[in-house]
Amino acid sequence: MSKTILVTGGAGFIGSHLVRLLVNKYIDYKIINLDKLTYAGNLANLKDIENKPNYEFVKGDIVDATFINELFTKYKFDSVIHLAAESHVDKSISNPLEFVMTNVIGTVNLLNAAKVSWVKPTTKNEQLTTNRFYHVSTDEVYGSLGETGLFTESTSYDPHSPYSASKASSDHFVRAYHDTYGLDIVISNCSNNYGSCHFPEKLIPLSIYNIKNNKAIPIYGKGENIRDWLFVEDHARAIDVIFHNAKSGSTYNIGGHNEWTNIDLIRLLCNIMDKKLNRVEGTSAQLITYVKDRAGHDLRYAIDSSKLQNDLAWKPSLQFEEGLEKTVDWYLSNEEWLNNVTSGDYQKYYQEQYVKRF
Ligand SMILES: NC(=O)c1ccc[n+]([C@@H]2O[C@H](COP(=O)([O-])OP(=O)(O)OC[C@H]3O[C@@H](n4cnc5c(N)ncnc54)[C@H](O)[C@@H]3O)[C@@H](O)[C@H]2O)c1
Repeated sequence: MSKTILVTGGAGFIGSHLVRLLVNKYIDYKIINLDKLTYAGNLANLKDIENKPNYEFVKGDIVDATFINELFTKYKFDSVIHLAAESHVDKSISNPLEFVMTNVIGTVNLLNAAKVSWVKPTTKNEQLTTNRFYHVSTDEVYGSLGETGLFTESTSYDPHSPYSASKASSDHFVRAYHDTYGLDIVISNCSNNYGSCHFPEKLIPLSIYNIKNNKAIPIYGKGENIRDWLFVEDHARAIDVIFHNAKSGSTYNIGGHNEWTNIDLIRLLCNIMDKKLNRVEGTSAQLITYVKDRAGHDLRYAIDSSKLQNDLAWKPSLQFEEGLEKTVDWYLSNEEWLNNVTSGDYQKYYQEQYVKRF
């Protein structure tokens, strides 16, 4: 194996797409997927690659520093791609400390282990290590935009939710380890993702599930919040390109140039679902239910990804309508996945029968 790469959070939504891409594309890499398997981690997302010789799953918690240090000693990782996080804004409002533990302390534990493994006492700040620490972050660290403008890589951080504050904090720690200890780091800040294997607490999979089951589709406030949506496989491709080609210490914004108000997105989704479920046009939209707005709800996120497009020739592969239809098709033909996730059965099976500790 030419490289051993630790991917954290690889059983989650984006992580599972990234792990699949790396395992299939780089057969000479060994990909170690470290995941705690919280409610958001699901090894069924990786069933198609779980027996590949260049893939291994390890169950563990990035908050446990002793465990992380032992893991680095055992596997001698060449690089880390760090996605493990608590990722749901609503959960961060009810339990901010959990987000500080995983997103901040967990990230610092990984940085410390990487520093001990990779930075030699003789390493000077200008002599960077060649072992890369890639931190996957969010555009939410930039706060909220007004009606115009885009987030660039030099937009000041202005997080508003406990989730975005914890991600902003972890981004600062990653940069500090580059500036202070000479760690080779890269950070990417991506807009909202959609696609298969997305836990149905988030807007698109929750709405698909509710429409399918004739349940209310909850929309915060008046549904006027704007998000810039990117197909998850395009995000995974961007991470691959940045991981392999970005200059040490650099930051890249990743986005789809694809802004939608929540309500317009849900109306489009309702139309697609009506067609797929052979319902009379307008049937699913009757399920739309406006609910009290989320506290501190950012109005608009929109990403300028021209640096990534110009420097590294990445661009989104799908139009949103096409990607959304593909996503709906996946959920409708993977009923078992959806039922297992909504009933909690996925955790029983994998936690008790499959998971192995290293
Ligand atoms: N989903 C998005 O739209 C989006 C957009 C931009 C950036 N991001 C970032 O991408 C990353 C992945 O997001 P996602 O949507 O796939 O999240 P997710 O919630 O689907 O997955 C997170 C994964 O991390 C694991 N995990 C959580 N706590 C852990 C711990 N203490 N130790 C080890 N593993 C732990 C979970 O089990 C899960 O598998 C996150 O860092 C998130 O901030 C997400």
